Amino acid sequence: MKVWLDTAVLDEIREAVSWGVVRGVTTNPTHIANAGVTDFRAHILEIIEIVQGPVSVEVVSTDWQGMVREAEEIARWSPHVVVKIPTIIEGLKAMKIVKDFATINATLIFSPNQAYMAAAAGAHYVSPFVNRLDAIGHDGMQLVRDCLTIFRNYNWDREVVAASIRTSLQVYECLLAGSHIVTMPFSVLKGLMDHPMTEIGLKMFLDDWARVSAALGDALRGR
Ligand code: E4P
Repeated sequence: MKVWLDTAVLDEIREAVSWGVVRGVTTNPTHIANAGVTDFRAHILEIIEIVQGPVSVEVVSTDWQGMVREAEEIARWSPHVVVKIPTIIEGLKAMKIVKDFATINATLIFSPNQAYMAAAAGAHYVSPFVNRLDAIGHDGMQLVRDCLTIFRNYNWDREVVAASIRTSLQVYECLLAGSHIVTMPFSVLKGLMDHPMTEIGLKMFLDDWARVSAALGDALRGR
């Protein structure tokens, strides 16, 4: 499973990429609005410079002609740009055309049928929104599993990007489900590493080392 970061905040992306586990970034209009972006193209190119991997950039038109025009523009910015298109009928019409010159991430997916339709129209990535379904009492992870089953049934070269992730448990379930990619906020990424037993264990090691460091510490310093 690949980990993507779900943000447009440059400092979060720099820090997360330094950990060696982040392979891409997803943005959306909300992320862009919240990140204080002033120059959209320059900001996306800065993200690409940091992550050196696929960066999803979402169109904002709701008619297929506008979506295609926007896709043509953002695809010119970099080969790393993935064009994010909402999974609506106008989006399908746009995907049919955009697939010939850009990689597509079909977003706002809330049902297996939507995932199928987007993939059939030409999307390489499909993004089921896990937490937004969980939040209304549906099983977001079941949607991820259903998308994976559909692609496996037909041996389809498509990738599921589990999106709208809020908890470490959702990430764990994505790992067990075999999701190709999970895109998550920086806060969730940090939470994956938190465990009190690790903190306690490290303190115990260092406390015990402190008892002998005067005598043995030089060995660690090559003396
Ligand atoms: C990722 O590609 C999605 O745009 C993002 O996860 C949206 O979901 P959220 O706003 O519920 O997190």
